[in-house]
Amino acid sequence: MSRLIVVSNRVALPRDRSARAGGLAVGVLSALRRTKGLWLGWSGETVETPAPQPRLVRSAGITYATIDFTALEFDAFYNGYCNSTLWPLLHFRPGLLEHSRANQDAYMRINARFADQVASLVKPDDFIWVHDYQLMMLPAELRLRGLRNRIGFFLHIPLPGPELFCILPAHRQLMGSLAQCDLVGFQTESDLRAFRDYALYEAGGQVRPDGTIEMFGRRLHSGVFPIGIDVEELESLAGEAETDDEARRLADSIAGRQLIIGVDRLDYSKGILERINAIGELLSSRPDYRNRITFVQIAAPSRIDVARYRHLRREIEGRAGRVNGKHAEIDWVPIRYLNRVFPRRQLAGFYRVARLGLVTPLRDGMNLVAKEYVAAQRPEDPGVLVLSRFAGAAREMKGAIIVNPFDTVEVAEAIDHGLRMPLKERQERWQRMMAALRRNDLATWSDSFLDTLTTAERAAA
Ligand code: ADP
Ligand code: F6P
Repeated sequence: MSRLIVVSNRVALPRDRSARAGGLAVGVLSALRRTKGLWLGWSGETVETPAPQPRLVRSAGITYATIDFTALEFDAFYNGYCNSTLWPLLHFRPGLLEHSRANQDAYMRINARFADQVASLVKPDDFIWVHDYQLMMLPAELRLRGLRNRIGFFLHIPLPGPELFCILPAHRQLMGSLAQCDLVGFQTESDLRAFRDYALYEAGGQVRPDGTIEMFGRRLHSGVFPIGIDVEELESLAGEAETDDEARRLADSIAGRQLIIGVDRLDYSKGILERINAIGELLSSRPDYRNRITFVQIAAPSRIDVARYRHLRREIEGRAGRVNGKHAEIDWVPIRYLNRVFPRRQLAGFYRVARLGLVTPLRDGMNLVAKEYVAAQRPEDPGVLVLSRFAGAAREMKGAIIVNPFDTVEVAEAIDHGLRMPLKERQERWQRMMAALRRNDLATWSDSFLDTLTTAERAAA
């Protein structure tokens, strides 16, 4: 019988689930809970000599297979090529890109190592679903090893058009590798358009009337599969968590003020600095908000060995300190900044207490926090979502107040608008967003990707 093999760099291992924030792990885990199968990825550990075989753990019908990196591989592959080269470029920040041939070589080698592991575990009928930018060379490496299985690839983060993507010296290898898939999926139409543009204008390929793409001598399917959330899980978590100590402590501590919440991995793509500026702008332009609002920013430490991330952390601390220094009163500070990970249930409780969810990334593939915030609201008294137009989620969350996160004044005005919004309008907007969340939840995402992968006419070699 066919089995699903999921391959991603990050794996949500049963032992440390709450310790890792990130949309991919949350999404893939919920999908695999339904389909079962095997999940191969990095253990999160570095060792002197990685074992030749992956470590296998079985839990709740899922087999987890993990490999270790050496410290040098972690530095060149993960900190280097993945998070200092691909991540900034694919988030439209070429100015932050760092490139070295040594890191690129490490990326190729680690992708080849993943391919060796898949080849040792795979059976002829298995479907292979590769996730995200860390493993873009994997499809080509799998074909090099003679695998004829159906291979799907899903990009969780944005894809810029060829003008930006071609800055990467290895752009042809990476796109040539994606062409080895049967199906390549994206979060939004604009990411898919960028992929097709690459095929048409850079690879000299074609988009056929049936939507399949021809490039690098292959024909493959592509599509938009916006990742959703497990709506019912969030609803019930938020309902239960509302009466937990943590949520009550938060509610008591804001003492009748209006709570604004931001929850992110600490990443420059999330627009946290700009968001703090917007809070400062609001308090300067409308002093009547002093002592009437509290902004809680929760930021989970992320990629702390990359200098740019450490620098951002210091900048955020400095910026929040300055806004607090300027506007705080003896019995109130406007910004509470928490640099840590919280269990999902506690987060859900915090979302529910917050009157306004402030989700303002400068660029984001989807942004699950926006969706989680909406699903966690109390139907009779829901909060308002202020959402960046540059988050993939903005295509679906039409009931949000959509903003340009670079425009501090616009974001401050949106917060003001949201905080003053009458109950009836909040309910209407929330119902529209909930309907969209239910139409396209996490199960729909994985089912529709896997249905397309399994039923699509076989791509031609
Ligand atoms: P990304 O994948 O870039 O991190 P998403 O918003 O799509 O961004 O997904 C982030 C996921 O990580 C969400 O499920 C969110 O609940 C979780 N998360 C973010 N910050 C924290 C935190 N401080 N503590 C616990 N979970 C977090
Ligand atoms: O969801 C996008 C993503 O980049 C995933 O690929 C990744 O697992 C997650 O964010 C968190 O980042 P990291 O795995 O580097 O901690």
